Amino acid sequence: MKRSTVNAIIREGDAFIRSFGYVMPPFAYWTPEEMKARRDASAGVFDSRLGWDITDYGQGKFDELGLFLFTVRNGRFEDMKKGAGMLYAEKIMITRKDQLSPMHRHVIKAEDIINRGGGKLVLELFMPDAEGGIDPKAEVSVPVDGTIRKLPAGGLLKLDPGESVTLLPGVWHAFWAEGKDVLIGEVSTVNDDLTDNIFREPIGRFSDIEEDEAPLHLLVSDYERWVG
Ligand SMILES: [Fe+2]
Repeated sequence: MKRSTVNAIIREGDAFIRSFGYVMPPFAYWTPEEMKARRDASAGVFDSRLGWDITDYGQGKFDELGLFLFTVRNGRFEDMKKGAGMLYAEKIMITRKDQLSPMHRHVIKAEDIINRGGGKLVLELFMPDAEGGIDPKAEVSVPVDGTIRKLPAGGLLKLDPGESVTLLPGVWHAFWAEGKDVLIGEVSTVNDDLTDNIFREPIGRFSDIEEDEAPLHLLVSDYERWVG
């Protein structure tokens, strides 16, 4: 994906998020130079991989296959082992109308996926089999705002604005927006996007960036190369 495209998606996404009254934290707007200058004083931003995450899953067709994410907070994996401490994470995301986030599951992370506004959020769901793979037959049973919803394998769960679903580790999910773009909230246990996404198809998690202009803001996947 070209850097100029990423910059445009950040600008459009920021305006979309603001239109719902959600305000991003100040570090969202640091320039790449400010990020470098704050590497030590704001180590938590980099160590917890907070920030912008515009992904086309490495496939180069963002409008069809992609997701806008911003990690607002993220806990510590060591605390998960202790069972106490910062065990949680929050993301704000945008899935565009008919833009697929591909089928995947998590090993560690439990997540609530929340429709915060816009169109309908559609999730395709499967339960895991004994090896963790997709069970093509098992009935899907998931809590929607505390009420169990049952669907056939591969059934489509449609969430209206305000509704949310709890996805426990192992549950396979893909999602997209219907009718209009959707602002998605994610409240989860600690998030590790480097290791905790298992995709059905062999695809990447981050975008390959072609540098055709200067970055407006760095992506989480830029930190290692740009900031160190
Ligand atoms: Fe997920």
